[in-house]
Order: sequence, then structure tokens, then C-alpha cells
Amino acid sequence: MAEGKGYGKCILFNEHFVVYGIPSIVSAISDATVAIAEKTDSGGIQLIDNRPATPGYKEEKKEHQEDSLRRILGAMDISMNANLRITLKGDLFAASGVGASAASCTAIARTLNQLFDMGLDDDRINEIAYEGEKGYHGTPSGVDNTASTYGGMIWFVKGEPNTFDLMKIPQPVEIVMGNTGTVANTKAAVAGVKERREKNPEEYDKIFSRARNIAYDARKALESSDLKEVGRLMNVNHQLLQKIEVSNGDLDALVETARKAGAFGAKMTGGGLGGYMVALTPGESLQEKVSKAIKKKGFSVLKTKIGV
Ligand code: MEV
Repeated sequence: MAEGKGYGKCILFNEHFVVYGIPSIVSAISDATVAIAEKTDSGGIQLIDNRPATPGYKEEKKEHQEDSLRRILGAMDISMNANLRITLKGDLFAASGVGASAASCTAIARTLNQLFDMGLDDDRINEIAYEGEKGYHGTPSGVDNTASTYGGMIWFVKGEPNTFDLMKIPQPVEIVMGNTGTVANTKAAVAGVKERREKNPEEYDKIFSRARNIAYDARKALESSDLKEVGRLMNVNHQLLQKIEVSNGDLDALVETARKAGAFGAKMTGGGLGGYMVALTPGESLQEKVSKAIKKKGFSVLKTKIGV
């Protein structure tokens, strides 16, 4: 029997823009998916999904998950006729916006690596997790699987090849992630941006160039612990995401609730059109206050830290 783990993630800056080579900042979170793999005598390949989840998430993602697993097995040269049981568990909520698909791809790649004694390093695990992500996203930027595999806070730029480096921030910072409870389709959200960008190239160029500047300013602010500035930039980033039409009413309402409760800044996070938002809430008492305000509106939250 073998076990592998993949972290959940929170994109702090520039989801969607990252698909077009704009730098993004992502932090792994401590909530993770764990995959257990064991060889069996019969029954083919079985995937048992015991992750806690947003209602409807697993059903909605079932075909994507099967496609993803086929891709992972293919990338690892494991026969589709093997007898294997893979069980997914862990404390990461299977929901949109929190890197659930990437975390499961990384966890599965890691556990199979161990089960078959392949000796693969993190770079290869990340490549395999990226192949698995294609089952969910079509053409993912690679930001999610990179956070799931390496952990920490990462400056990520999509390119040929992708480049990324681990950022050092002076100390971990509390965040609250609010779950709209809506299962979102990231593939459709990414396709929508592409279509609108092609229709309005000038307007989108301006928005994209502001997103690029925000990434550099945010990196500076994070590395010098200027959290008021980080929060302000998150608010601006949310506005840009609204402009490219990937936010929605629930996300905007939760962002507003978090700001009113004192969050330094708040924005949607991940693919949008549902899923999660994130609020920057340094200190446990502010984190608790913002978390309560979101829960009072009837939404569930995840309290965690970035930069751990
Ligand atoms: C999804 O977590 C992040 C997106 O930018 C898509 C991607 O980067 O592949 C929306």
C-alpha cells in the first residue's frame, strides 16, 4: 500500500491572466488531498472518492476525473488493465477554486510513484499532475499543479517552458476562503475570457497590462509584509476579474461582506463563476471576525494561512 499527498491552493493574484503569460502569485494551503493506492487481485482500476465535498461537485466532475486518471496512468506507463484501488481522502474540500483537481492529480501521481517504486522526482510528479489537470481544464496554465506539488508561495509564469520560483515572505498570514457552494466549470470560464478578449482586444490589452503591473507590486508588498498594500492590490485585482466577467453575484457579495468585516482586501480566487473567494485577514481575531461574517450569510469557510 502506498500514500501520496497534494496541497490545495489559493491564487492570490492573476488567475485567468496567467493563462496568457501574465505573472501570477499562488500559495499552497495546508489542507490537502491524500491518495492511497493498493494492488488488488481483480476488479480493474477502481477509484474511491472519500473527500469531503461541495454537494454535486463529485457528480459534476466524474467524467473529468475519469479522463484525468486515464491521462495520469498513461503518463506513468501504467496499463489500463492493471488491478488497482486508489482511494482519495484528506481534509481538502473538493470544491471549485481551491485546487481540488490539481491536489488530487498530484496525490495520485505521488502514490503511484511510491506503489510502483518509480523513483520520480517532484519535477516529474508536477509534469504528470499537469497531464492529469488536462482532464479537468483542457489547457491549464500549470499554476495549480505547481502549487499542489511544491507547496509554499509561488511566483508562476506560464511560458515555454513555465517558470516559477518560491517566494519568501517574512511570516505566514491568516486568510479566510469563503465557499459560494456553486460548482463551477473552469474550462468554460477560461473559454469565455478567450472569446471576449478576441472580440475586444484593445480593452482587454489595457486590463491585462494592469494585471501585469499588479503582480510585480504585489510581490514587493508581500515580500516586505506591507499587508495593507497587498489587500489593496487584491481589491484592484478583483475589479479586473469582474471586468473580464469571471466573477458573479455570490462572489461579489462575499467579497463585500469580508471587506465590511475588516479584511485588508478580498477577491475571488481560482476559475470564478462560483467556487471560492479569499480575504486577507492578518491575525487570528480578524480572521475569526471575517469568518463569522461570511458564515452569518449562510456560506461555509476555510480558515488557513498563506506563506507557511
Ligand atoms: C484555475 O485555478 C486558474 C485559472 O487561471 C486556469 C489556469 O490557470 O489554468 C482560471
